[in-house]
Amino acid sequence: MALADYLSMSDDELASLIVEEKKKKGIVILAHNYQRIEIQKLADYIGDSLELSRIAAKVPARTIVFAGVMFMAETAKILAPEKRILIPDERAGCPLAESITANQLRELRSKYPDRLVVSYVNTTAEIKALSDIVCTSANAVKVVEHLGGKKIIFVPDKNLGDWVKKCTGADMIIWQGSCYVHEQFTVEDVKRAKELHPDAAVLIHPEASPDVVALADLVASTSGMYKFAKEKRTPAIIGTEVGLMERIRHEIQDSKVYPLKRDAICKTMKYTTLPKLARSVREGFFEVTVPDDIREKAFSAVRRMTEIV
Ligand code: 13P
Ligand code: SF4
Repeated sequence: MALADYLSMSDDELASLIVEEKKKKGIVILAHNYQRIEIQKLADYIGDSLELSRIAAKVPARTIVFAGVMFMAETAKILAPEKRILIPDERAGCPLAESITANQLRELRSKYPDRLVVSYVNTTAEIKALSDIVCTSANAVKVVEHLGGKKIIFVPDKNLGDWVKKCTGADMIIWQGSCYVHEQFTVEDVKRAKELHPDAAVLIHPEASPDVVALADLVASTSGMYKFAKEKRTPAIIGTEVGLMERIRHEIQDSKVYPLKRDAICKTMKYTTLPKLARSVREGFFEVTVPDDIREKAFSAVRRMTEIV
């Protein structure tokens, strides 16, 4: 069936098709916290980058459909090479992950041979293969602490790098990449949100700029924020992509969460739609592959992370 055929179906028809095909084929759907709410509702697991990579490695399914962006699906393939990993739209990239090339990292490594390379999970498989260890926003501080004072090259996110450097005092050379979704948050946005919701805690993702992060009551990954909302049940301003807020509102009854910015939307995360998810589950679009030599090296860097946290 062509995508146009799926596009002509109603949401209910698509949802039934997805549930049926998933069951028939033993497929598991993983969805990142930024996915559209209709995708989240059909997922077997929802989470942040760290949680989803762990689930991908251990879930007993032969096929995983990864509703997220390419670096996440690639990380699943790196950790679970025996599984078939599908992504509903192969154009769903992450501009932050694409902000550094393998050659640029090779150059940095040869310029600073005494430094360890710590790469954020928002990187291509090739960058991971050139790294000593990987981290996510949930564990970056712990990973760097674990390196016990070693000098570091940190790629590619400058804001997460700045946050980790402040928390650990590590000697870090930081690549100057950033995420356009989080960089749009300003100090004025925080002030405005606080005026509107004076009792709300300010939760900020570490991809936001340092002046915004400085105003946070909690700096956390998307699942760190979810956990806060679930456990504390107190009002919170959500300083990340709006998909997480939709998840919290959908799953946690009486939650009081407000977006720091309503239009903080990751365009490529939203490439996954119900028709594309249905096509993926039914017809096996699009298989994610990572060449063996890259996968093996990238695996070592990701495994080092999972051994620490
Ligand atoms: P999390 O790992 O916190 O979910 O972040 C992923 C991401 O891409 C943030 O923009
Ligand atoms: Fe990449 Fe930013 Fe989208 Fe996260 S929100 S996937 S860092 S572009």
